[in-house]
Amino acid sequence: MKAAILGFGTVGVGVYEMLQAAPGLDVGLVFVRPGKDDAPFKTSELDRILSDPTIDAVVEVMGGVEPAYSYVSACLMAGKHVVSSNKALVAAHGLELEALAREKGVGFLFSAACGGAIPFLHNLALAVESDRIVSVGGILNGTTNFMLDAMQTDGSQYADVLRQAQQLGYAEADPSADVSGLDALRKIMLACAVAWGKLPVEGLLHEGIESLTAEDVAHFMGKGLVCRLLASASISENGKLCAFVQPMLFPAGAPETSVKKNFNLAKYHGVNSGDILLMGQGAGRYPTASAVLRDLSDIRSGRRAMFPAGLAAACADNAEVLCRYYVRTERKAAALFPFAEIEDDNVVVRGVTKPVSVKLMHETASRLRKDGMPIFFAALED
Ligand SMILES: NC(=O)c1ccc[n+]([C@@H]2O[C@H](COP(=O)([O-])OP(=O)(O)OC[C@H]3O[C@@H](n4cnc5c(N)ncnc54)[C@H](OP(=O)(O)O)[C@@H]3O)[C@@H](O)[C@H]2O)c1
Repeated sequence: MKAAILGFGTVGVGVYEMLQAAPGLDVGLVFVRPGKDDAPFKTSELDRILSDPTIDAVVEVMGGVEPAYSYVSACLMAGKHVVSSNKALVAAHGLELEALAREKGVGFLFSAACGGAIPFLHNLALAVESDRIVSVGGILNGTTNFMLDAMQTDGSQYADVLRQAQQLGYAEADPSADVSGLDALRKIMLACAVAWGKLPVEGLLHEGIESLTAEDVAHFMGKGLVCRLLASASISENGKLCAFVQPMLFPAGAPETSVKKNFNLAKYHGVNSGDILLMGQGAGRYPTASAVLRDLSDIRSGRRAMFPAGLAAACADNAEVLCRYYVRTERKAAALFPFAEIEDDNVVVRGVTKPVSVKLMHETASRLRKDGMPIFFAALED
């Protein structure tokens, strides 16, 4: 099977190199921007790929929503299988792309878009065929995990670990999608769609780590707790879905605390399988390219879809999920939270709340921030 590649950056170069050595897979043209087609294997004309009957599949590793969406649609229309590593694209247009791929009878797989090298969506798509999955989630963003781990290990300040993550190439020049939790949210949207055939597009909540301080970390460590950014989703018996991202505090010994540096931990719970945990590299040239090649091999073996048939948009409802929260805010805002325990040094209040709805907690924090009030919160694992 011959695959063309759209985008020749970190992942694209890895896919190009790995395809040259992969048994049963060949590399076709590589699509680049005009002016960058400086070798015979590169082209800036998409039509050359669309009209080449020897190209069976296209790997989209450009990133972003447009023009990736237009290009991927054109490839599917032309009867090419598509493999993508682009979570922004699949979260925004998964429904349309899935429908088009089914109509054309071609494959559309995207396991590299969630968990990098970890065969998370791949395994999940297989698991739903024989088990009822009730929850999915995990540590799905390596950049923030690297930052949290470094803050905990070295006592560093947030700005220093962010700079370090950028120097090491883990964080983008604009790290906002990572640190705000949006990147992890897009990944959990894909996991929901694979697990339940419902792509949540409304009602989603995400809280990142932007307001975490070295003092907060010292405070958790004093209590033997470790902070991680968790994506969580579950479905009730009557089909109600919740999906959100938020910092969580774990006691020593919890599996999440063993996830170091920029690693990911993806998990799902099946009624019959129980907990399944998968740990590995969630990003990087070759780890991500390895997931792309796994998808190509899957297509070669006959797999066509990762989403179940009948995929539909859904609304998440996080009002009924309750968590106890660690909250740090200013004294004048303390009355907004149902604290069960409180430590008060007169200016800053730190405490643990009674169980609060996830929706209410996220909404209260965003209201406080609009009023210029600082707040950090993290759920406690119960
Ligand atoms: N890097 C990772 O570890 C990783 C892990 C999992 C998933 N992903 C996903 O994989 C995708 C690619 O990531 P990456 O890290 O490889 O990004 P990257 O290094 O920025 O590479 C993207 C490449 O696509 C090219 N490109 C973008 N728009 C284009 C256009 N309109 N026409 C032609 N070429 C275009 C870029 O060219 P220019 O340089 O000329 O802009 C660049 O060469 C993203 O969706 C990302 O979220 C990445």
